[in-house]
Amino acid sequence: MWGQRQERGGGESAAVVAVVTEPRFAQRYRVYLEQQRLLDRRHRVERLRDGSVALPVLGPTLAEQHLRELRERVAPGSSCALARLPEPAPSKAARGCPPARRLCLEVSRWAAGRGVAWSAQLEADLPRSWQRHGDLLLLGEDCFQARQWEGLQPELWETVASALGGRRLAKRGRVSPDGARTPAVTLLLGDSGWVEHVDNGIRYEFDVTRCMFSFGNVTEKLRVAALPCAGEVLVDLYAGIGYFTLPFLVHAGAAFVHACEWNPHAVAALRNNLEINGVADRCQIHFGDNRKLKLSNIADRVNLGLIPSSEEGWPIACQVLREDAGGILHIHQNVESFPCKNLHSPGSNTVEEKELITSQGGNGATKDSSRKILSAATKPEWQRWAEFAKTRIAVLLQQVHGKPWKTEILHIQPVKSYAPHVDHIVLDLECRPCPLVG
Ligand SMILES: C[S@@+](CC[C@H](N)C(=O)[O-])C[C@H]1O[C@@H](n2cnc3c(N)ncnc32)[C@H](O)[C@@H]1O
Repeated sequence: MWGQRQERGGGESAAVVAVVTEPRFAQRYRVYLEQQRLLDRRHRVERLRDGSVALPVLGPTLAEQHLRELRERVAPGSSCALARLPEPAPSKAARGCPPARRLCLEVSRWAAGRGVAWSAQLEADLPRSWQRHGDLLLLGEDCFQARQWEGLQPELWETVASALGGRRLAKRGRVSPDGARTPAVTLLLGDSGWVEHVDNGIRYEFDVTRCMFSFGNVTEKLRVAALPCAGEVLVDLYAGIGYFTLPFLVHAGAAFVHACEWNPHAVAALRNNLEINGVADRCQIHFGDNRKLKLSNIADRVNLGLIPSSEEGWPIACQVLREDAGGILHIHQNVESFPCKNLHSPGSNTVEEKELITSQGGNGATKDSSRKILSAATKPEWQRWAEFAKTRIAVLLQQVHGKPWKTEILHIQPVKSYAPHVDHIVLDLECRPCPLVG
């Protein structure tokens, strides 16, 4: 393979070498080079300016040993020489190869044309995966870190974008731990980081360099869209650009959403997204730290979509719940668990879990699926964390409202694997004030 050739070459230049001859001998040369497994199929056979034909070869040193054979026996009387191709073009086959491979081919070819010695180190420094937002490609943080890339921009970025079929390029840094989940994304190519996604009939527009986006939350967005929220007032404590606020409004039938968000760029996107989806009149944005929210006693449902934990928002979630009727909290959390041993398939729950499942029946998260979901695969660590949240929130509700409350685990929803042994889950917790006795 080409990549392996580079590794063995230990930093040898990736410039493509070709056997050059007259057009009338090109076909015979091609057949011979193919038989000898010398023809480089990743690059196109080219007609050079002087009219001669260049057939890219894999092993220049090896090919050199065949020149005499070509000249004297394969096509007697032909002229035959080795030459470097300054701008070798990828073949049709290479263009149809996996994107990461194509990226490697095109960047190495481009780099070689600029005298950069290609090496395994550079190859390993290329991105293996990326997010595609329309024509904008968002690269991860662990690529293009080698010093050799310096001074090659912006042409390098043009080559990368074109190899991956995009026009704009951005690169992710670490999500800053500032609570705003600022993505620290740098725009490498293009004038604007604004992108558009259409998801489940909802349009989301945002600036990838300023707002976070998780493709992994798709299942939760769909679940939220199917929740029976007709006529309900909702508080979305971590609204972002509206990933949950919008499905609640557009599909779940929420009467009104109070959307809290402290990142001004996310607020700008949220405002725009409410408008373009025609639901701005049913949403109030509360810009600022939700822990200072002035609302209380209004919500039928509260969404707490912050990971790794939304625990800091639990007191305010309790404050906004309706005092007379209570409501449901959707609490996101990253939960650590140990490999495999704890995953139970349906029907294989422990006695302890079966009891939990039985005691939780009744109020499903969606209209009719609670029993099915409750008996789906789960992990004891999720249950333990859910029990902790249930108890803690009952205490907070009593403190905030000055009377006893009952909390019930309705459902635990896995969203995605966040990291090895860390799952992003959502707990649906029903919270009701206890009826007064006597
Ligand atoms: C996980 S992100 C986006 C949430 C959105 N639900 C999603 O899944 O895409 C969390 C959002 O909460 C906002 N946020 C975090 N802490 C906050 C706070 N104390 N007050 C208001 N907004 C906050 C961040 O700015 C960020 O946009």
